[in-house]
Amino acid sequence: MTIPSANKPKASRDDFSANLLNWYDANARQMPWRIMPADSKKGIFQDPYLTWLSEVMLQQTQVTTVKDYFLKFITNWPTVHDLANANEEDVLKAWAGLGYYSRARNLKKCANLVVEEHNGKFPQSVDTLLKLPGIGDYTASAISSIAYGKAVPVVDGNVERVITRFKRIKTPIPEAKPQIRKITNGLLDKNRAGDFAQAMMDLGATICTPKKPDCPLCPVGENCQANAKGDMEIYPVKLPKKAKPRRKGAAFVIVNSTGAVYLQKRKDSGLLAGMSEVPTSEWNSNEDGATGIEAAPLFCDIKNKWQACKPIKHIFTHFHLELEVWTTKSDNIKSNGWWSAPEKIGNEALPTVFTKVIKSALET
Ligand code: ADE
Repeated sequence: MTIPSANKPKASRDDFSANLLNWYDANARQMPWRIMPADSKKGIFQDPYLTWLSEVMLQQTQVTTVKDYFLKFITNWPTVHDLANANEEDVLKAWAGLGYYSRARNLKKCANLVVEEHNGKFPQSVDTLLKLPGIGDYTASAISSIAYGKAVPVVDGNVERVITRFKRIKTPIPEAKPQIRKITNGLLDKNRAGDFAQAMMDLGATICTPKKPDCPLCPVGENCQANAKGDMEIYPVKLPKKAKPRRKGAAFVIVNSTGAVYLQKRKDSGLLAGMSEVPTSEWNSNEDGATGIEAAPLFCDIKNKWQACKPIKHIFTHFHLELEVWTTKSDNIKSNGWWSAPEKIGNEALPTVFTKVIKSALET
């Protein structure tokens, strides 16, 4: 007997997870850290170290960008013991360009703790994982679910989008988060918790996209309330973003006669802590940061020979930065930085803002 669609029962948890997982079985994206569904269904779990590493990298960063960094890390440090034995300096160098550098420092601290206090094994429960540095709700539940098969809801931005559309949740993010977790918890498949989590993320990344979602291809589209209404793109509702303040400053690229660039280490706390940099002025929040050659570092006794280069812009989480870029040639720097040859610059712990600065100077 066919049931007329108007009387069709509402999607149950089993429909949702069965439809989602059938779709995932056929469409899971290959990722260097991922156990594909054919194997996970045989009871093979993803390695907890690889899960942790990839999930920390994937916070705030696209899968395509993460892949190469992930491969570099597991080549350099194949196990959590190797990472615990690594120099923090080398870890920061390998992380350079990925952004949000406190993640790299916490990564190292976390590896040390897992080795020292957990015998080299990542804990399985969300509560114990949450005690480790750099592991928040998302990462803890991702490890617990993907690497150990625990039935816990894993909610990232993709999952927020899928669920708020499925239920037409009008409460803005982040207020809606507890509700989203609860709904996800009610829908997940306890026998395939890790696959369910990754299927939700793949769905959000490939079909239930922020703009122009491909609802006709969606495995759970038939019961999706936003799809029925046609207002998918308004979810998740977000509060208006505060405008980011602008800061200004100047950066100074000193090049020696062999073409090497003068670098120094940043302070161990604050923005871009412990990373490398070229000398810069303060980046002033009143938009009146010191600029021009007046702001050049005092250890450069070459005040009048600076050449102006194309300024650069960079967006940080909390502010927009505009930096004047100045360059000069000198072999005589009396300070405790070092010279980095052009072919070595790619291996330095240089945040993207400074690779932009150096590029501008070297192009001048
Ligand atoms: N984004 C963050 N973690 C992910 C994962 N495990 N699979 C797909 N997309 C992700």
